[in-house]
Amino acid sequence: MTSMTDSIPDHVPADLVFPFDYRGDAQIRESLWDYLASMGDRPAMFFSPDLGGYWVVTTAALAEEVFSNHEIFSVRSVSVPKLESPVKLIPNNYDPPEHAPYRRMFTQNLFSPRALSSLEDVTRRDARALLNAMTPGRCEFVGEFAERLPIDVFLAGMGVDPAHREQFLPWVRNVFSGATKEEFGRGMAEASTFLAEWLKKQMEAPETNGGGMFQAMIASRIDGRALTWDEMHRITVMLFLGGLDTVTSEMSHVMYFLAGSPAHRQRLIDRPADIPKAVEEMLRRFSIANIGRIVVKDTDFHGVRLKAGDPVLIATPIVGLDESAFENATTVDFDRGRARGVRHLAFGAGPHLCPGAYLARTQLRVMLEELLPRMPGLRLQPGAKIEWRAGADFMVRELPLEWDAVGSA
Ligand code: HEM
Repeated sequence: MTSMTDSIPDHVPADLVFPFDYRGDAQIRESLWDYLASMGDRPAMFFSPDLGGYWVVTTAALAEEVFSNHEIFSVRSVSVPKLESPVKLIPNNYDPPEHAPYRRMFTQNLFSPRALSSLEDVTRRDARALLNAMTPGRCEFVGEFAERLPIDVFLAGMGVDPAHREQFLPWVRNVFSGATKEEFGRGMAEASTFLAEWLKKQMEAPETNGGGMFQAMIASRIDGRALTWDEMHRITVMLFLGGLDTVTSEMSHVMYFLAGSPAHRQRLIDRPADIPKAVEEMLRRFSIANIGRIVVKDTDFHGVRLKAGDPVLIATPIVGLDESAFENATTVDFDRGRARGVRHLAFGAGPHLCPGAYLARTQLRVMLEELLPRMPGLRLQPGAKIEWRAGADFMVRELPLEWDAVGSA
């Protein structure tokens, strides 16, 4: 039988050891943000003996360095515990310099304004449709809205028939909320197989596919050559993993917060032009992503001894609450950062900075523009018990909301 201390290597000093199981702590499930805020007195980098042992980065300054310094912190595994998948996702599992041509293809082609041009209209249309499909005055927001809209946007961008949305739902749920490894494995296998078969079909007549992101992928060149089928598949799976549950999770925190804060909500209804900077502040306050790295060489990092092979977690939800970077960090202040909005690390930093940020921001903005004015008196349903989901993305599991439906008593 192994004990917790077995997972503390000799080079880790006792005063840097603190428990934190970001995948399973009961405190995450019961009171996520209070629990994370209570970690403010922990060191900028501490070692958790949970999950086989790993470093946790908690300040914005160190997080930015870890995200940016691939010579010490590699993306060979972006999960904690270490998972060196035989299938390398493009571009996330490549360190520079191999990362650079794929990355350019993402920023210049796949996520270019041209490739994304129709997606705001799709987002608005589908946001309205999802709202209209709700029972007037009440919904379970995660299942009825937040899980569905990002799937619609992904399908539209890739030119997949929108009728497949309901098929994608259980795959995303199994991969990100599955209770067991088997559920995770099944979700991944089913999604990957569907996308492989779909892609094969598209390649028979690529010109008939109307998806801007798909067309950009077809037109992309890596060192002068077209992408192989295998590369396209690994990109498509990357978008499935990176672009759906993240947006769902962020939406769940934003709506939970706004349902309990009428003053913040009213400001956005009265002054919709403030929505973009409010979105930035809520991305900072409720950052969701826990991102892994592997130390690739022994090093002294700001006085902390790291050894090659040590796993590191950049816990952006804790980083967003770093008082040394954000004064009164737990307060949601839409005017933080003044006109341009607060600068934060919710989307990472450095070479892997999220290329989907524009798409994510658009979905969050459109959600607020469309829903808030149509949900007067928004609040939690009486008796609703909120539980947070631990894991790679922190999320509100279910969010039962109600509001004063027009025409109801
Ligand atoms: C609120 C929503 C989102 C959050 C919080 C988020 C967060 C992040 C973070 C922190 C990273 C850096 C990972 C690392 O350093 O290893 C990242 C990378 C990435 N994200 Fe996002 N993301 C979001 C939405 C999206 C969307 C909508 C897409 C695409 C449809 C997307 C696609 C990607 C891709 C492809 C990468 C890898 C980039 C690279 O390795 O160069 N993300 N995201």
